[in-house]
Amino acid sequence: MNHKKLCIVMVGLPARGKSTIACRLRESLETENFKVEIFNNGEVRRRILPENTASADFFSPDNLEGVRLREWIARQNLQSARQFLDQGGCIAILDATNISRERRDTIRRDMEQVPVLFIECVNDDEELLTTSITHKTKISEFGHMSLPEAIRNFKDRIQFYASRYEPLDRESNYVVLNSLQNRVVREKTTDNIPHYPRIRDILVSDMIQNLYLIRHGETFFNQERRIGGDSPLTEKGVDQAGLLGEHFRTTRIPFIFTSKKRRTIQMAQPIIAAQAECTHVALREFDEIRSGICDSLTYDEIRERHPEIHVARSMDKYHYIYPGGEGYVTLQSRIQLGIKKALYLSGRAEHIVIIGHQAVNRMILSYFLYRRLEDVPYIFIPQDRYFHIVSTQTKKLFELKRF
Ligand code: F6P
Repeated sequence: MNHKKLCIVMVGLPARGKSTIACRLRESLETENFKVEIFNNGEVRRRILPENTASADFFSPDNLEGVRLREWIARQNLQSARQFLDQGGCIAILDATNISRERRDTIRRDMEQVPVLFIECVNDDEELLTTSITHKTKISEFGHMSLPEAIRNFKDRIQFYASRYEPLDRESNYVVLNSLQNRVVREKTTDNIPHYPRIRDILVSDMIQNLYLIRHGETFFNQERRIGGDSPLTEKGVDQAGLLGEHFRTTRIPFIFTSKKRRTIQMAQPIIAAQAECTHVALREFDEIRSGICDSLTYDEIRERHPEIHVARSMDKYHYIYPGGEGYVTLQSRIQLGIKKALYLSGRAEHIVIIGHQAVNRMILSYFLYRRLEDVPYIFIPQDRYFHIVSTQTKKLFELKRF
């Protein structure tokens, strides 16, 4: 095995997914027996500075003591990384904002002969940032603040960093990564960067440890074979939700994603109630296919009132678009965005749940498991079973399980 040394330096504003990516790199590279360690400035700060450093003032460029302390922490981690590499370590990852060229030049110089690869995480989705910040502010360093206070402080912190931000450009080796889409925006490798093909591949891959993909239980609309709408669960549906909560009682589920519709949110309630700590995120990307002028009609009513729609849809269900609504073909991009958002927000969570709808779950399944397009709209999506999906670089698993 080639154990050439490398230093990876994360770059980016707070809450851009840097630590998640650093961990993803470590986990994947470790499975190939590389010795990898992450040096995270935030962790050192929280450990060694007993006073409150969560408030935004600490990060103000005008707070000279704050600047001095943060630079000191960065130097400590740089030294530890050097030591790790000198003592047999293979890949050191410096996980911090590293937004100034000066800081990056210092790292480059101190690493001497060890090649340095900068990875800049960018992502400006406002809604996602707010959700991500809300989640971050639940950690203990914000424990003494109210939620709005914590969010305000975190957003001010980001602004302080943004005011001094110098994007990557003159560095010799870098990747700019859209950390929501897992997409390389720009890249440059002037030197010979060891393990680069492997690292690049990890950066663009979705990693799912355990995803439980569930469809909501029975609704009143389901009973009548009525499509769309925002119907609640029937008594049977409520029972199904209860069984689901019971089923997952002993699994730690830190994140649960639903659509904005009542039926998926209702289905999620018993799971959330049985968990000590579970963040619920309702994404409109997971709302059911919009059936336009057919919304709230039964399949029989569609056949009677709009026979042309019935015929056209039967002929090519995947590409058919409801007048004033959507088709599977147009659903694809929003479902993919929903998946990316869920993965981004849940970061390194070992178990996550998505509760979706019939068409939505078909699209989510086909994202992970290849199906011919014409077969996607017919994938069997029961209401008393769920799909357990694992998708990492070394393992792919699909299992239909009963609850
Ligand atoms: O019938 C339930 C439902 O979720 C509808 O709201 C939706 O229009 C439909 O399933 C999607 O399934 P299909 O594409 O097979 O009509």
